[in-house]
Amino acid sequence: MKIIVCKDYAEMSKKATEMVAALVKSKPDCTLGLATGSTPEGLYAGLVEKYESGEISFAKVNTVNLDEYYPIDPKNDQSYRYFMNQKLFDHIDINKNNTHVPNGLAKDVEKECAEYDELVKKLGVDIQILGIGRNGHIGFNEPDTYLVPGTHVTDLTQNTIEANSRFFASADEVPKKALTMGIGSILSAKQIIMLVSGANKKEAVAKLLTGNLYTDCPATMINLHDDVTLIVTEDAYR
Ligand code: PGA
Repeated sequence: MKIIVCKDYAEMSKKATEMVAALVKSKPDCTLGLATGSTPEGLYAGLVEKYESGEISFAKVNTVNLDEYYPIDPKNDQSYRYFMNQKLFDHIDINKNNTHVPNGLAKDVEKECAEYDELVKKLGVDIQILGIGRNGHIGFNEPDTYLVPGTHVTDLTQNTIEANSRFFASADEVPKKALTMGIGSILSAKQIIMLVSGANKKEAVAKLLTGNLYTDCPATMINLHDDVTLIVTEDAYR
């Protein structure tokens, strides 16, 4: 694993922006695996800036997002589809038909998950952006006794519901389930960039850095991948 320690969130975001922009420049029809949460917001702002300055174009780029609450209307301002439109897609020249987020209103969940896996396989993710939960989750792969390889529906842990309640009026309003790419789908990306910022992620990062695999810290599964860059702020590192 390549590790880049940054002094702060701004530096972390800048490093990530440079790496993603370099891919978009060298491979204009690349597929980006994207994540939501507070952590990648600086990266998305950086990419918008690079688009606005004419440095990069997303006209041929495809994207697949890691996860979505379930059930949730994509128009709901707490949905991850809404977040992606707001933070990135509405501000760049991407074709929205080429942006993919699991469907929070899918009637047949099994079918939705199987089709999402097919899509991820067909597109082939060039760079997968990951954040990490305080409890070590990636996407919505929560700590458990076992982990699921493919896209699936999952129950959110109380810890995640509480962490995400900051975006809702109360914890009661946070959906209790989500659709998420599985560990296998995540590891199928050619390259993984994990972004981590903040002292509350320190424990999860420490576990990741042991190099071991813990199902109670799903992020450690990226230790199986041979092209991972961890971009981490000082306060989250050791
Ligand atoms: P955060 O979430 O970026 O909002 O801290 C990260 C995650 O839960 O994966």
